[in-house]
Formats: sequence, structure tokens, C-alpha cells
Amino acid sequence: MKFSVVTILPELIEPALTAGVVGRAREAGVITVETVNPRDFTTDRHRTVDDNPYGGGPGMVMKAEPVLAAIAKASGEDPGSPPHRIFLSPAGAPLTQARVKQLAQLPHLVLVCGRYEGIDDRVIELAIDEEISIGDYVLSGGELGALVIIDACARYVPGVLGEATSTDEESHAAGLLEYPQYTRPPKLVATRAGAPVELEVPAILSSGNHASIAAWRRAQSLVRTAKRRPDLFAKVELTAADRKQMPPLHARTHLALVHHPCVDRTGKIVTTSLTNFDVHDLARSTATYGLAAYHIVTPITSQREKAEHIAGLWLEDERARIEAARAEATARREAGSRAPKAPNSASRASALSLVRTADSIETVIAELTAEYGRAPLVVGTSAKAESFPSAPRRSPSELFAEASLDPSPVLILLGTGWGLADPLIPSVSRVLTPIEGVAGWNHLSVRSAGAILLDRLFGR
Ligand SMILES: C[S@@+](CC[C@H](N)C(=O)[O-])C[C@H]1O[C@@H](n2cnc3c(N)ncnc32)[C@H](O)[C@@H]1O
Repeated sequence: MKFSVVTILPELIEPALTAGVVGRAREAGVITVETVNPRDFTTDRHRTVDDNPYGGGPGMVMKAEPVLAAIAKASGEDPGSPPHRIFLSPAGAPLTQARVKQLAQLPHLVLVCGRYEGIDDRVIELAIDEEISIGDYVLSGGELGALVIIDACARYVPGVLGEATSTDEESHAAGLLEYPQYTRPPKLVATRAGAPVELEVPAILSSGNHASIAAWRRAQSLVRTAKRRPDLFAKVELTAADRKQMPPLHARTHLALVHHPCVDRTGKIVTTSLTNFDVHDLARSTATYGLAAYHIVTPITSQREKAEHIAGLWLEDERARIEAARAEATARREAGSRAPKAPNSASRASALSLVRTADSIETVIAELTAEYGRAPLVVGTSAKAESFPSAPRRSPSELFAEASLDPSPVLILLGTGWGLADPLIPSVSRVLTPIEGVAGWNHLSVRSAGAILLDRLFGR
């Protein structure tokens, strides 16, 4: 594989490529690196490569002609095999391991390094195939970025790494961070904060049981990724074995619509009354996101009966509609005409069958504890950032990552009225960050808030 680096500071490139894996690969001729200096394509006596920016502003901009000429030289003469030309830029697409793997399949990369405030944009229009950033920060030049690409790609070139499989098990190879690694001694005697400590290598790694070691490493990778990079974890496709160990989070998540203890507009503790729409609409959201159940919590017996009655009505209505559609289909078949498509109502009926009622949050917690054999992780919600001050705050992706790794069921509490009376709900051990729009006002109906939170947690 060949890398041509277009740079006005070639002395930055060479020394970084003489040692280690890349140095050996160059010596073995598996990769080649050359530099091309735009200064060699200037025509004035000062070999000028920069000029003032049009429109004013600080700094200088690299001139188009010398850079274009250097890129042309770096690209070679053969129009039949053009190289892939990359401009290193903080405004480019962030470099990922997946992109590195693809770039490593190409025979020749031209890596164009900016300096000053960057290059004349017409160079990008005329002679650049892709802009890549190595991170959300600004460097003084593209050379370090070019070196990053050379190093990361070279590791995929056959013959560069000792063991061909090394790249498969690393961080980012399959969307996960790598598990912790250890080497001898088995017990490390050291000091931490001035006190002596002994750190031992996890015993499983010396067990010789390869299947157990692989399972331990997989679990460690999942835990690390979930804790450190919930953004990556949200995209991980869990394997059947992962799922066997831990049922998917949505299937053990319960939603509770709480009518007591809530507060009214004055902050007084109240019991709110049931709303017909809340029963129906949140049941549909519960079903859409594959949750285990939807609990309507009110201490008033007649209100619980009303909720059960409303859910029952919908179920009966759905049953009646399904039966009517079936009867019509049969009649049409018998009359020889095409049967209409049956209504998609089975899912609506099943949504309403997810409704359960309870007299208090404590009752729901007790029911779930009995059902799962472990207490649920109780998650509070609020439009106000200051609610549930003692519970750690979690964004939906952070909660998803954290709760996915713990086999406990999850109970998400939605408040009614002016919200949950947080001092009276000590069981809440996590609180979701409030949903914010753009207007600074975020008082959504509980049906909208519930749907948005479920989508942020489980939506694809
Ligand atoms: C000082 S920077 C120019 C920054 C430019 N004015 C901007 O705000 O986007 C000079 C050069 O360093 C390189 N560079 C800086 N940060 C980079 C990053 N995060 N990734 C890749 N290249 C970078 C680019 O080649 C860039 O043209």
C-alpha cells in the first residue's frame, strides 16, 4: 500500500514512521510512504505557499496552485489507477475504524495536509475525494492526521501485524471497546494514594477454560462500552448468547402512570384523576416499544376499576371488530368476491391487554420484585431539572446502557398533574434528564412525554 503525503513540513512525517510496526512494514516494503512539498511547485523566489484570505480575517490561507500541483505529482501519471485523495480537516467526517478498514483496501492514498487557516476551498472542489477529521479539536496542521491514517491503515495491510487476527478483537472492531488485558506478574504490588495495594489478575484468565474466558471477555467489553460509550452501546447488535444471559431491556421495562403522590400547581400533594386518553394512548406506546406492561397507579378503587373498564371496552371493541371483519371475509368468499384485508387490530387489542392497575408505586415494585425475583430499578421523570435531587441523572442513552447490563427489571414513573411528588418517592434511584425542545418551555402532556422518552430509549 502506498501513502503520498502532501505537506509543507515533510520533516514532521519521516521520523514518526521509522520504528515499531509501521517502521518494520516500511522496511519490509509492505507499505511505502513518500512526501510531496507544495513549495517545490512555487514560481517565486520566496517559494510562497500562502496568502491573505479573501474577505479579511485572521491568518493566512494556502494557495491553490502549488497545492494542486503537489497533489497532481503525488497522484502519479497513470490515469487508469487514480489514488484516493483525502484532505485532513477538522470539518471533515470523523475517522472511524470501519472507514480505516475500507481505506486500507485501497492501493494508494494521497493525504493532503493543511497549514495556517487551511487551503483554498477550490482545491477541495477540484482535487479532493474525501475530507477526514481525526477528532473534534483543531491541530496546527494535517500532518498528525496523515500519520494517524497511515498507522491505522497499515495495521490492516496483510503482513504488517504479527497475528492476522489481532485487528478483529480490538476496540471498535465490532462496535465495542476491548476487554481489559493483563500480563505477568499475577499479583502486582503497588501503592495507591500513598497506601500499599495488591492488584490481582482476574482468576478466570488463568483457568485455561477458553469458552469461559471468551464469555468473560465479551461481558467485560459490553460493560465497558455501556459505561464509557453509551453512544456506541446503543448501536451494538447483541448476540443470541448475550440475550440469553440478559433479556433485552425493553422486554423487562415497565411504565407506570402515577396519580398519587403528585403535586398540583401550588405544590400541594394531590391525587389526580384518571384520563381516558392516558389509558389508551400510553398503552399503545407501551406496545409499540415492546415494553412488558403499563401500570396505572391510583389509590382510589373506583378509578382503578374505571381504568380496567376502559381497557376492557377497547378490548371488547377490538374483538367485535375482528369478528365482524372475519364474518365479512367469510361472506365474501362464499359469494366468490375478494375478501378485504383484515384490519390491523390484533396489535391494538394486545396493547390494551398490557394495562395493569395498582393502588401505589410500592405495590407495583412488590409485584415486579416477585415476578422477576429482583427489585426493579425505579426511574423518575420530570420536566424540572431539580426534581429527585439525590438520584443520579441519566440521559436516555446512558440509562439504556446502564440498565441493559443489569438483569433487573426497570420501572419508569410518569407523573400526572404538575408532576411526581419527588420527596414522597424514595424508591427512585435514577432520574431521566428532562425532555427539552427549543423554546425553553417543556410542559408536555404525559402521553407526549412518555412517547418521546420511550422513543429516545428504544426507538430505532
Ligand atoms: C489550524 S488548522 C485550520 C483550521 C480551520 N481554520 C478551521 O477552523 O476548520 C490547519 C490545518 O490543520 C489540519 N487539522 C486541524 N485539525 C484537524 C483535525 N481535527 N483533523 C484533521 N486535520 C486537522 C487541517 O489540515 C487544517 O487545514
